[in-house]
Amino acid sequence: MRDMVSENAKRLEASPIRAILDRAAALRAQGKPVIPFSAGEPDFPTPEPIKAATMQAIADNYSHYASNRGLPALRKILAKKIQGDTGLAYDPETEILITSSGAEALNNSILTFVNPGDEVIIPTPAFVSYKNLVKFAGGTFVDIPLRADNGFQLDADEIEAHITSKTKMIILNNPNNPSGAVYSREVLERVAALAVKYDLLVLSDEMYSRLVYDGAEFISMAALPGMRERTIVVSGFSKSYAMTGWRLGYIATAKELAGPILKVHQYSTTCSPTFIQQGLVNSLELPETEEAVKEMLAAFARRREMIVKGLQAIPNITPVVPKGAFYVMVDVSATGKSGMEFAQELLEEHSVATVPAVGLGDSCGDYIRISYAASDEDIQEGLRRMEAFVKAISK
Ligand SMILES: Cc1ncc(COP(=O)(O)O)c(C=O)c1O
Repeated sequence: MRDMVSENAKRLEASPIRAILDRAAALRAQGKPVIPFSAGEPDFPTPEPIKAATMQAIADNYSHYASNRGLPALRKILAKKIQGDTGLAYDPETEILITSSGAEALNNSILTFVNPGDEVIIPTPAFVSYKNLVKFAGGTFVDIPLRADNGFQLDADEIEAHITSKTKMIILNNPNNPSGAVYSREVLERVAALAVKYDLLVLSDEMYSRLVYDGAEFISMAALPGMRERTIVVSGFSKSYAMTGWRLGYIATAKELAGPILKVHQYSTTCSPTFIQQGLVNSLELPETEEAVKEMLAAFARRREMIVKGLQAIPNITPVVPKGAFYVMVDVSATGKSGMEFAQELLEEHSVATVPAVGLGDSCGDYIRISYAASDEDIQEGLRRMEAFVKAISK
């Protein structure tokens, strides 16, 4: 047969971190007690009120297609929630789209706006999808490597230095996976001013907006002057509501941008599962749901302290203290190993699964990413094994 694969699909790269994740899964299947520091998902079950309301929605036969944009009642609740959190008013009729996951929201947003040849600025390290989706659309990924010595903060000067007549979009993820950075108001305002000056779109992935610590303040890019009309906010339920397997996300953006995205959404998924949307309509605003979310957020805050302290106590490795999300980047270069070697050996010899950060940014070869969305016991045990590993290789 001829080579049937499209040029678009050929541009997608297999993730270099896939191999290690597959190996971790294989070790688990052999019965090895692998510590899950690699997965970007809460270990908690979905809050009970959401589960109960969704089971009821199935019993009540919410099993037909919903509106392409999503159930009106859910859009209304989300618009109210966004306004409460950020002060931004989005019209639920035309400016909120429910998607089947944040991943779909990213895919649709990038495919809607990126033409072949358009340049898209992505500060790295970054979530792997951005670069690949830009390439899939035929766009050019413009890498802005961030520096660990300032906690991987955004650098507006670097961004401006990379803007050309072909630049179409900047993709930001705040709070950030994998760095744990929460971008300061000052730097966001500077990037916003650049977006206005050069007439750019900003795709603002705010998936972890509720996960901030140590008094860090989350600021939505869309809330800054001149940005509502040019920012596509992507968020979802996977992380804050422990709903990774449910696959529900949303987009909030000006109606001039939402309309074209809706067309891509129509032809990719038609609509997101109706009973899940109805379950959320009946549970999202319950005080019990909010209590469950707050308990999880408190657990992440506690685990962050536990893991940072534990890592700081291990010689020859240095964590970059995160302010948000549930990841921590760790510099392992003083052990004499690259992040990839460190992660591979730690997995093979001590059954601790981490992510070599080179898969998330070319400049991050010295780092591994640890997810602390793991149980307290797993965190303690993982730290013990890491310490034993580092001691053994430092002899
Ligand atoms: C930064 C970021 N954005 C988006 C997503 C996608 O989330 P989901 O597709 O589960 O909604 C993830 C998941 O890991 C993420 O880390």
